[in-house]
Amino acid sequence: MQRLLAVLASVCATALGAQEFTTLKGHGGPIMGLAMSPAGQIATASFDNSVGLWSEGGPIWLEGHEAAVTAVAFGPNGQLVTGSDDFTVRLWGDAPQVLGQHQGKVTSVQLSPDGQHVLSASWDGTLRLWPLAGGAAQVLQAPGTGINAAIFGPDGRHIFAATMNGQILRFDRQGSDVPLRLVTHGFGVTRLVAHGPWLAYGAVDGGTRVVRADTGAQLADFSLDRRPVLAMAHHAGTGQLAVGDGHGYIMMLDTRTWRITRDFKATRKGPVWALAFAPDGASIYAGGLDDVAYGWPVALLDEFKPGISGQRSFLRDAETMPNGERQFMRKCSICHALGPGPSRKAGPTLHGLFGRPAGSVPGYFYSPTLRNAQIVWGEDTIDALFDMGPDHYIPGSKMPMQVIAGAGDRADLIAYLKQATKKE
Ligand code: HEC
Repeated sequence: MQRLLAVLASVCATALGAQEFTTLKGHGGPIMGLAMSPAGQIATASFDNSVGLWSEGGPIWLEGHEAAVTAVAFGPNGQLVTGSDDFTVRLWGDAPQVLGQHQGKVTSVQLSPDGQHVLSASWDGTLRLWPLAGGAAQVLQAPGTGINAAIFGPDGRHIFAATMNGQILRFDRQGSDVPLRLVTHGFGVTRLVAHGPWLAYGAVDGGTRVVRADTGAQLADFSLDRRPVLAMAHHAGTGQLAVGDGHGYIMMLDTRTWRITRDFKATRKGPVWALAFAPDGASIYAGGLDDVAYGWPVALLDEFKPGISGQRSFLRDAETMPNGERQFMRKCSICHALGPGPSRKAGPTLHGLFGRPAGSVPGYFYSPTLRNAQIVWGEDTIDALFDMGPDHYIPGSKMPMQVIAGAGDRADLIAYLKQATKKE
C-alpha cells in the first residue's frame, strides 16, 4: 500500500510539473481553435460542435453551436467568445448567448483591447463589431472576397483583415469605411498577429511574412515550402511567435531579433490547426486532426517526439478495407460513432440505427427538422438520404450536404452499417 501511495505521489508530482508534456483529452473531433485566458485557463474549439474549458478537475463542455466551432478567444477580462460553421458568434459565461449571426462560416473572433467589443470575421465578406453593452453591430466590408482572419491593432483603433484573395486590409474605426489595402500577397492570407509597429501574417502558399503595420513595407520573410500556414500565436512577454502549418510543423520565431529559434514537427501526420501559449510563454499548446490537444514546454521542444498522431480512422489503411467500411470511415466516421452510449462527435451515434425513428437518440441535440421528421431509418431511407443528399431529403437538417453517387457504394455502405450498428 505504501508503495502504491509513493507511486501515486510521484505521478501527481510529474503531472503538475511545468516542464511536462500535457494532453487535453475528451473531444469527439479535431481541434480547430485554442485560446488561453489571462488567468491561464485553456479553451478548445472542436469539429464536434463543442467548446472545452479545461481545469484540473477536467473539462467543462460548452454546448450550443450547431456545427464545427472554428474560432475561440478570451478577452482581457476573461470573457470567452466563439465562432462557428453555423455562422453564429457566441458569448459564454453566466448567461450564454448568441451575440450575432453572419451569412457564412465565421473564421475568427477577437475581443477589443478594452474588452468592450467583439470582432468577428466571416467568409461572407464582412467584419462585424458587436458591442458587449448591447446594440447593433457595426459592419465593415471586404469587397468581393471572404475574410479568413481579423484582428485589432494594439491601439484598438485599427482593424486588420486577411482576405481569401490575398490582401491585408486596414480599417480605421474613426475614419472612413473604405479600408486601406496594406498588402497584396497573391495567395489567400490565413492568419494575422499585430504587435507594436509590426504585423505578421501567414498565407496559403506557405508564406510567413512580417510587415510594418502602418505602411505594409516588408520587415522579414520566413516563407517555407510548407503550405498552408494555418495557425499563429504570439507571446508578448517573451517575444515569441509560433507558426503552425499544413505539414504539422511549429516554427518558433524570436520577434526581437527576427530569427527562427526552433522548428518542431508536432504531428506525425496532418496539420497544426490551432496554437496558444501558456500565460508565462514557457509552454505551447497545439491542436490538429486528433481529438486531443497537446502542450509542450517550449525549452524542451526538440526532445519530444511528435505528439499529434494525425491518425484518424478514416485515414487508416482505407485501401485494405472492404468497400462499405471504407465508405463509412471516409465519409461518416468523423461525425458518427457506432457504439452505444453518448459520444462527443458532431452527429448522433448510429448504434441501433436500423428500425430507429429519426431524431430519437436520447441526449443528442437534434435540429427541429430531424426531431420532427416522420422517418424510420432502414435500407430505403438511408439509401434515399445519400442518393438525394441530406439537403434535399431532409431540408433544414444539420447534416452537411453530401451525395454518394454510386448505387453500389450506397449498397455496400448500408450492408456495412447494418452489421456495425447492430445491438447485441
Ligand atoms: C460533418 C458531420 C457529418 C458527416 C460527415 C455525416 N453526418 Fe450524419 N449527421 C450529422 C449530424 C449533425 C446529424 C444530425 C442532424 C440533425 O439533427 O439535423 C446527422 C444525422 C444522421 C442520421 C440521422 C440519425 C438520427 O438519429 O436520426 C443518419 C442516418 C446519418 N447522419 C448517417 C450518416 C452517414 C451514413 C454518413 C456518411 C455517409 C454521415 N451521416 C455523415 C453529421 C454528419
